[in-house]
Amino acid sequence: MIISLLWVAGLTAGQSSSPIPSSQPRSQSSSVVTLSGSQITLTRDYLPDVTLPSFFQGSTIATSFRPSPSGSIRPGNSTTSSRASATEDPVTNIGADNTSTATTTKTAPARPSNTQACNNYPEFCTRKYSNITEVAAHNSPFTRQNNAARNQEYPVTQQLDDGIRVLQAQAHYVNGSLYFCHTSCDLLNEGPVEDYLRQVVAWIKTHPFDVVTILFGNYNWADKDSDGNSLVTSVDFDVAVRSSGLIDYIYQPPNTAMTIDDWPTLGEMILSQKRVVTFIDYGFDTINVPYMLWQYYNVWETPFSPTDIDFPCTIGRPEGISDEQAKKMMYVANHNLNAEIAIGGTSLLVPNLAQINQTNAVSGRGSLGLMAMECAGKFLVHTLVYVRQSNRC
Ligand SMILES: *[C@@H]1O[C@H](CO)[C@@H](O)[C@H](O)[C@H]1NC(C)=O
Ligand SMILES: *[C@@H]1O[C@H](CO)[C@@H](O)[C@H](O)[C@H]1NC(C)=O
Ligand SMILES: *[C@@H]1O[C@H](CO)[C@@H](O)[C@H](O)[C@H]1NC(C)=O
Ligand SMILES: *[C@@H]1O[C@H](CO)[C@@H](O)[C@H](O)[C@H]1NC(C)=O
Ligand SMILES: *[C@@H]1O[C@H](CO)[C@@H](O)[C@H](O)[C@H]1NC(C)=O
Repeated sequence: MIISLLWVAGLTAGQSSSPIPSSQPRSQSSSVVTLSGSQITLTRDYLPDVTLPSFFQGSTIATSFRPSPSGSIRPGNSTTSSRASATEDPVTNIGADNTSTATTTKTAPARPSNTQACNNYPEFCTRKYSNITEVAAHNSPFTRQNNAARNQEYPVTQQLDDGIRVLQAQAHYVNGSLYFCHTSCDLLNEGPVEDYLRQVVAWIKTHPFDVVTILFGNYNWADKDSDGNSLVTSVDFDVAVRSSGLIDYIYQPPNTAMTIDDWPTLGEMILSQKRVVTFIDYGFDTINVPYMLWQYYNVWETPFSPTDIDFPCTIGRPEGISDEQAKKMMYVANHNLNAEIAIGGTSLLVPNLAQINQTNAVSGRGSLGLMAMECAGKFLVHTLVYVRQSNRC
């Protein structure tokens, strides 16, 4: 069921600003391609290169924190940190029937074993967030039936019910707020980001033992005012996070650049009920929105829009990090198969729907499962996400 998509339109996903505090040059080019015989005009944007600043190293506070004007919690503050519960035993506490008392169960009788599942598996309760592989939905909100730009077959609530624990999508800033639009709001507008997040919040509320990750794509990453300041940043996403109620579940990481060792276990996150992790691809502002981490300080990814059925587990963005450095970070495996076609001298990637069942399979050549195994073997860590897309067939 889950699978591949209209990756064409997906080419513009993940555009973002250049929040890098360095003068690294970045390349970007785009061209408009019209597929003859279809109604679709596709804008092909290349994702900007990402190079980490030279002072980057995992586990550092990459940006100094200040309290946000809207009162975000301060990282590392033990009164609010999810680490507050770390000294308790998540295995025994996690099985409590009433999670709201779980953080204060010092007097609760110890349980012989943990039977409560965290993200569907009891053994995940004691595993670090960074040591678990989850399946992601690429462009999760884009589900409108009969729309050429949709990526997923089922709406987000169904995706979560089906086991998806990482949600990704590109948001466009229009008329003063953010909408989940694909490539252009004229092509597909699934409505305000806030509305989508409300659906996620409703699910999270009724699933107290699940940890969910959201990768925000900032389509307007390159928009600048006359002084060269980014116009759309995580500050704008924070508005929707707050108004939707998602803020109540947001996990505040202690560092802006988390190594795999820095993350808490799922059990710890669940006990504190701070069990939503957010990243933004470009345009981060961890001074004003400390919880929304920059993806590339924390998560590298394999090449975007791959056409190689063998899906080699190599580093795409950020560029220039060593395998050793990569082993200390989480990663995203972009697992969607594309075919390259040439139209009027322009090369265009389109989703290879013919191979979709193989691409999303658990095993076999070109499968999601095989890529997961390869990445785990090479980088040791079993990590964050494997991107799958919805079967439009
Ligand atoms: C934690 O919060 C308290 C109360 O707001 C504040 O006084 C203290 O400085 C904070 N600690 C850190 C480490 O931010
Ligand atoms: C958990 O306990 C609190 C405090 O006793 C109570 O208000 C709440 O309704 C309980 N929740 C559930 C799901 O039982
Ligand atoms: C990940 O979890 C496995 C299974 O519990 C454990 O053996 C391994 O040491 C963990 N790896 C890290 C880096 O925490
Ligand atoms: C933005 O405002 C214009 C003018 O009122 C309207 O036509 C357009 O549909 C709005 N766009 C969105 C995404 O709501
Ligand atoms: C994928 O598998 C489903 C279920 O067996 C089948 O209905 C569908 O036609 C297959 N799609 C392709 C492109 O092979």
